[in-house]
Amino acid sequence: MAKTQSNRASLDKQPHEVAAMFDGVARRYDLTNTVISAGQDRYWRWATRKALAPRPGERLLDLAAGTGVSTLELQKSGAWCLAADFSKGMLSAGRFRDVPMVAADAMALPFADDSFDAVTISFGLRNVADTDLALREMLRVTKPGGRLVVCEFSAPVLPVFRTVYLEYLMKALPKVARVVSSNPDAYVYLAESITEWPNQRRLAMRIAANGWSSVKWRNLTGGVVALHRAYKLG
Ligand SMILES: C[S@@+](CC[C@H](N)C(=O)[O-])C[C@H]1O[C@@H](n2cnc3c(N)ncnc32)[C@H](O)[C@@H]1O
Repeated sequence: MAKTQSNRASLDKQPHEVAAMFDGVARRYDLTNTVISAGQDRYWRWATRKALAPRPGERLLDLAAGTGVSTLELQKSGAWCLAADFSKGMLSAGRFRDVPMVAADAMALPFADDSFDAVTISFGLRNVADTDLALREMLRVTKPGGRLVVCEFSAPVLPVFRTVYLEYLMKALPKVARVVSSNPDAYVYLAESITEWPNQRRLAMRIAANGWSSVKWRNLTGGVVALHRAYKLG
């Protein structure tokens, strides 16, 4: 099994490597995101909340929530939102936020069946070692009739834009990260993990194969990011 010498995980995404990599990223995570996405991260988070459409009084799980920056946006809905992540460094970097947080592994969630009205995961599913297991765990803890939104990097739709984007990912992004991030190596992993990740249609099939119904997706920023929505049958 490939073991890296640097502060990044290998693409087999061993949980201890992934957690350690994010511990290293945590200190300047929010700032780095905004810089490398040219501010688009705020739009993606807003669109995730709109797609999930939380209502006051509902219970939401924001899985792989990191510093809780994604949870903060969801809270604007008035729903009760719980941030869960297995990187204690990420959770601790976000502890100044007024967001309930819990250490939890997406592949073995410490929640009872049918606990949440909705579950969401932003830029997290790609990093989980077993995507299928995480999708089934999210299904298990969602109430019948409840919903899922996955916000994740995807495949730009226009070929010319895709070429420019891939150049940015593989060449410019690691250089920018060297200036801003507390763990630049993690952004080489980011670029590689995005290029290996299933495109919109394949991810939709994967979500459906793990028991979710009515899977649909919507592209953001020309497909740089996709929002996948699905339901647990009531
Ligand atoms: C790129 S960050 C996303 C954070 C936040 N959701 C956001 O939108 O900025 C990915 C997060 O996934 C978490 N993660 C990866 N695998 C996980 C797992 N198996 N269980 C829980 N969290 C996991 C990492 O610790 C990291 O905080």
